[in-house]
Amino acid sequence: MTNRTIAVLDFGSQYAQLLARRVRENHVHSTLCRPDITAEELRAMNAVGLILSGGPSSVNDENAPRCRMEVLEMGLPVLGICYGMQLACQMYGSPVQSAPSSEYGRTRIELLEGDPIFAHLPTTVSVWMSHGDRVESVSDDFVVLARTDGAACAAVRHRQRPFYGLQFHPEVTHTPHGNQIMRNFLYTVCGCRGEWQIGSVIDQSVRSISGRVGPDERVILGLSGGVDSSVAAALLHRAIGDRLVCIFVDNGLLRGGEVDLVVETFAEHFKMDLHVVDAADRFVDALDGVADPQEKRKIIGRIFIDVFKAEAEHIEGARYLAQGTLYPDVIESGHGYAGQTANIKLHHNVGGLPEELGFELIEPLRDLFKDEVRRMGEHLGLPEDIVWRHPFPGPGLAVRIIGPITRGGLETLRQVDAITLEEVHAAGWYPKIAQAFAVLIPVRTVGVMGDQRTYADQSVAVLRFVESTDFMTADWVRIDYEVLGRISTRIMNEVAGINRVVYDISSKPPATIEWE
Ligand code: XMP
Repeated sequence: MTNRTIAVLDFGSQYAQLLARRVRENHVHSTLCRPDITAEELRAMNAVGLILSGGPSSVNDENAPRCRMEVLEMGLPVLGICYGMQLACQMYGSPVQSAPSSEYGRTRIELLEGDPIFAHLPTTVSVWMSHGDRVESVSDDFVVLARTDGAACAAVRHRQRPFYGLQFHPEVTHTPHGNQIMRNFLYTVCGCRGEWQIGSVIDQSVRSISGRVGPDERVILGLSGGVDSSVAAALLHRAIGDRLVCIFVDNGLLRGGEVDLVVETFAEHFKMDLHVVDAADRFVDALDGVADPQEKRKIIGRIFIDVFKAEAEHIEGARYLAQGTLYPDVIESGHGYAGQTANIKLHHNVGGLPEELGFELIEPLRDLFKDEVRRMGEHLGLPEDIVWRHPFPGPGLAVRIIGPITRGGLETLRQVDAITLEEVHAAGWYPKIAQAFAVLIPVRTVGVMGDQRTYADQSVAVLRFVESTDFMTADWVRIDYEVLGRISTRIMNEVAGINRVVYDISSKPPATIEWE
């Protein structure tokens, strides 16, 4: 069964994924698409409306991305936003000029005509603009629905075709009535009915998985304890019960308490068939003294595959391997109908386990955004600790000990990390942070404890708290000094060997989130 979907044609806007998410927040399925998608592809995906995103180009550039005329002529409702409006206006024969001055930021617009797209709105509204070009005037084929003070066309409608153009961005929170406009488009113009509900998505996935996996077949899932693999586990378990076998590898690079939490949640609470493989010594011995970050990652990746393979070989009837791949991974790797942003992001873990393991893949989350996965997790009864946890890198604490890895260093970092998270939780900051963690750096600094001078290796703990929506960019968190103070005092008092705690105030870019 193919969901009725709104196709979001991605012209390279930083907001294209946000647009697709906004549609789904209104309980309508959306699919991010390449700009040159064909009418046939759109029909095959059951598109019931199109959104043309913004983009960094000028429609007058020679190589500007374009959509096909046949797509505009399918008879589906179209909403063009910023570049998307300019492009469609140009394709319909209205010239687009460079504005005498660019408009960025909040602007007031006046609504000139009553129209369903602006139902339930006051006559002047504040909107977010971000453009250089603009449509100065339109041909008689269009009605101007809204104007800015500068008299530019802020919104237009085609007289004969179901096309609306908005010069501003309804998808950003700086456009206060933006969601009402989205709803008007989805519900009134496209006739959508709000069918995309997480409960029905779960039912649909459960049906499809249980239809695919035979009564004597098994699905193996590498459980990492992260949100994605945890939700995939809960979903598969609902579909196929004990035909799901989860493998959790303790690589000795985990946070404190992680093994217990995973066992408690999945084995004890959900009663899943969970294999915990204690491979800590194998990993830590192989990493002992290794300082180069890529070398660390290679060693960890190789041992993980060996350990996983050895465990999987014992599982009778294992035919499938499940992975918690999400929709943004699919988009960014350029698969399916994926958009313009394809191939921008280099994933740390793409591919995960190599194909030569010989399993068929099941990726039950590949159509979902992270917030939908979290809602699904809540719906499936996963605890908050798991559903709302921050991402944690696959190579774990190994990439948070800068320089050579030692058992002692790992133990120290685990203690520092545990104190840090405890205090962040206690102060109520955890949900407001995208990632909070500690790093050990190979620097010796002088300290004084009691009457003794201290000067040991790895005596500095760095605290790194960032806020981010996509982890491609990030900013450091302006957390209360009191919280930092408490963390620092506790680390100094409770963790042997640390005589200095510092707070990382670098944004990404130019820094990255992790230190290596
Ligand atoms: P950076 O450090 O590149 O991190 O700004 C962006 C996001 O990716 C995570 N990260 C990793 N995840 N394996 C992973 O599974 C890795 O090697 C790795 N390195 C970084 C990082 O925690 C952040 O969420």
